Amino acid sequence: LIVNTSISLGKQIPNTFMGVFFEEINHAGVGGLWAELVSNRGFEAGGENDPSNIYPWTIIGDKSLIQVSIDQTSCFERNKNALKMEVHCDNSYSCPPDGIGISNPGFWGMNIEKGKKYKVVFYVRSTEEIDLKISFVGSDDAVKLASTDINLGIDGKTSKWRKVEHVIEANATNHNSSLQITTTGKGVVWLDQVSAMPLDTYKGHGFRNDLFQMVEELKPRIFRFPGGCYVEGNVSKNAFRWKQTVGSWENRPGHYGDVWGYWTDDGFGYFEGLQLAEDLNALPIWVFNNGISLYEHVNISDISPIVQEVLDGIEFARGSPTSKWGSIRGSMGHPNPFDLRYVAVGNEECERDLKATYLETYPKFYDAIKQAYPDIQIISNCDASTSKLPLNHPADLYDYHRYPKSANDMFHMAQDFDHTSRTGPKAFVSEYALTGDEAGYGTLLAAVAEAAFLIGLEKNSDVVNMVSYAPLFVNANDRRWNPDAIVFDSHKVYGTPSYWVLKLFKESNGATFLNSILQTNSSTLAASAISWKSSIDGKSILRIKVVNLESKTVNVDILIDGLESSVVHSKLTRTVLTSSNVMDENSFLQPNKVVPKESVFENAGKIMNVEIDPHSVTLFDIPYV
Ligand code: AHR
Repeated sequence: LIVNTSISLGKQIPNTFMGVFFEEINHAGVGGLWAELVSNRGFEAGGENDPSNIYPWTIIGDKSLIQVSIDQTSCFERNKNALKMEVHCDNSYSCPPDGIGISNPGFWGMNIEKGKKYKVVFYVRSTEEIDLKISFVGSDDAVKLASTDINLGIDGKTSKWRKVEHVIEANATNHNSSLQITTTGKGVVWLDQVSAMPLDTYKGHGFRNDLFQMVEELKPRIFRFPGGCYVEGNVSKNAFRWKQTVGSWENRPGHYGDVWGYWTDDGFGYFEGLQLAEDLNALPIWVFNNGISLYEHVNISDISPIVQEVLDGIEFARGSPTSKWGSIRGSMGHPNPFDLRYVAVGNEECERDLKATYLETYPKFYDAIKQAYPDIQIISNCDASTSKLPLNHPADLYDYHRYPKSANDMFHMAQDFDHTSRTGPKAFVSEYALTGDEAGYGTLLAAVAEAAFLIGLEKNSDVVNMVSYAPLFVNANDRRWNPDAIVFDSHKVYGTPSYWVLKLFKESNGATFLNSILQTNSSTLAASAISWKSSIDGKSILRIKVVNLESKTVNVDILIDGLESSVVHSKLTRTVLTSSNVMDENSFLQPNKVVPKESVFENAGKIMNVEIDPHSVTLFDIPYV
């Protein structure tokens, strides 16, 4: 491998190169990054037309003592369902000592930790002066981890809804707890919008700290959201409609994400996506619904309201706090505009049999957005990578999605952009991953093949502006798509080997891709070199990456051209991602089975002979002045 360190021969990788794609899939947001503990907090999960069901709430107490139903008497206009609880016992007559009521298990158990505080909010009205108790209860022996008594007092008797808010501190830990609301008083009680949030979320913005940190450590510079097919919906009524997801959380109707098969209260909505991007120091890329769902679409003659909805969405993100939609953003605590510079017109429709419909409606969005916001970069989902000609319609970028099922194919996709037109819109590789048997739940094999693909993208970063792996998250209790980068449950988290590869590429943003030549007969070896200036000491760092998809050790001679021998230290840092078996995966039991390991490489110099492990990604970091 001959590496030439002359920056003038290299090319700058875009600052926006490595990013993340967040989709509401696998309970990534609801029951995941979004820290709300209560599932179906508004009793709306049956949808707006169907009778609402109370799942996963359960009833505590015998049917002869308590009856629970849903009626439409809520004080919230956009979600009218409320839970009605008729209690037939009281403390002097047959109520169990712990009371009767309702219980919510959260998303496969709530993580309640000793010493931590939780804010419980709900809305209530009742016919009697009833007392309520709210408690977090552990799964093992029904131990109460925290509880508080609420006396609704004389007001409780009025028919008016009132908000109850309590912060309670846990006195023990249980990762599989539930929230109970109980009473020993006879009467009728209505409940609605029951929320329980840990006080300790990222900046108080509602993001689970441990999951936020996993993403932050990737240093993403772009943040694509909220889908994926989630944006489209199978049918239009289940698509992501941003207006339904903003404003006060109590008044969001929620919706059934029919593609991935679960309800979301939309606590993590459009605003929260923009906020998350800002917190990550990444530029948001809003994928909007363009009137096309997987199995139905609006006709071109009816597209105007959808175009307007998109313009309103951009105004919500960027408009002045006195504008119609900007003022709603302001009322949510963010008067300053979000830095929205990119939007994507739909997801994947151009790559399916919906191409004609997509191309018919696309110009309506493109023209309207460019007219109102000329600086916004518009992403088409017609993939131009395989054509030697530029994209045939106006766009700033185009989407590229690939999920090959063979590691070999993934490895060789590194060449996908070698012959792409050098003019016209650039590519956004917004979804890629090895899938299928070779990828399992996230194997080393997948990670190694993906690393080679990323090297190919860096090499072609004159035509590939942005990259994101997909999917980002999976709640291990709801695997809708495998593999994923980050795996979690109520309290644990780990990265798959693919996650660690992303981390090995985080310095690529804005780095110089150096000229290098790999002279080899092997078709399973890939290598490249980048350099950048360290923000800590201002020193330049040369990073050489070598990927070996072979099952045997490979010897590589590295020759560094353009550096004085004196500036190449004899000790370098070598980082290797590998494992004893190519099908090895990480797990909750062994979260660090396949993670990069750093060591000091002793025989460094301008000319080095290095051994590259079987099935590995190896980095050599060489600081120089
Ligand atoms: O990443 C999972 C899904 O794959 C996305 O929702 C979709 O865009 C693609 O087909």
